[in-house]
Amino acid sequence: MSARIIDGKAVAKSVREDVAAGVAALEKDHGFTPGLAVVLVGEDPASQVYVRNKGIATREAGMRSIEHKLPADTSQDEVIALVRRLNGDDEVDGILVQLPLPGHIDANVVINEIDPDKDVDGLTEVNAGRLVLGKDALVPCTPQGSILLIKTVMEDMSGANAVVLGRSILVGKPLASLLLAENCTVTTAHSRTKDLEEVCRGADILCAAVGRPEMVKGDWIKPGAVVIDVGINRVDAPEKGEGKSRLVGDVDYDAASAVAGAITPVPGGVGPMTIACLLKNTLTAAKRRRGL
Ligand code: GUN
Repeated sequence: MSARIIDGKAVAKSVREDVAAGVAALEKDHGFTPGLAVVLVGEDPASQVYVRNKGIATREAGMRSIEHKLPADTSQDEVIALVRRLNGDDEVDGILVQLPLPGHIDANVVINEIDPDKDVDGLTEVNAGRLVLGKDALVPCTPQGSILLIKTVMEDMSGANAVVLGRSILVGKPLASLLLAENCTVTTAHSRTKDLEEVCRGADILCAAVGRPEMVKGDWIKPGAVVIDVGINRVDAPEKGEGKSRLVGDVDYDAASAVAGAITPVPGGVGPMTIACLLKNTLTAAKRRRGL
């Protein structure tokens, strides 16, 4: 058996086109263009790439991109002052503070300064609380994108056993809440989970978000399961030449795709959905702020 490949790039493209159409309609009918502010502190190379790509995608969707790049030694108070300024700026509909922040800054404190109505990352306590309570929330982008991908292969998740590997605030916890909202029976597994392999074998939907290259093996997967690989890990690839690397997920893709019913590749699976959902959240925030 060979798994159906879930094409995250294609789904993300369609989400981005929908957002662009929504932006164009806002301009036509209401005369305004949503704006997304992204704050980057320091020179983390991966974060620089993410922020650049977010800016490009924002403009491609027809929205305004406002980028604030601050030096690594910016104080926590200065970052908070910027967030407060953006909260009060009517031209800004969404605010994203790129993580990780430098070690001297408490990310929790900074994130919770963001106006929850502009919190397009869905990471403030208000939005996290709303999500858990099943209320209208701005939902974190990667878990939201993961759910959209599952829906392309599984119309009704009701009653399915879903296992989420990982309990991060960015992915694992919100993803578990979203799966519960889809009426799945949800297990959150993590580094202390006993009989992890056996837990995974019970999953109709297995979502891996642990950041460990190819940790999930083929024989951990229930035949026919939907496998969502959130991991993006760079590993050495000496076979490609000296000093070369390649990207792998948290799942051993070749082995898993021989067993699973459907699987997301890395790259080209969950990754592209994150930015697409960020744009979607920015459009949602812009409309809600204006009562539309
Ligand atoms: N760093 C890696 N992923 C993310 C994300 O989704 N949001 C933010 N703010 N920072 C990140």
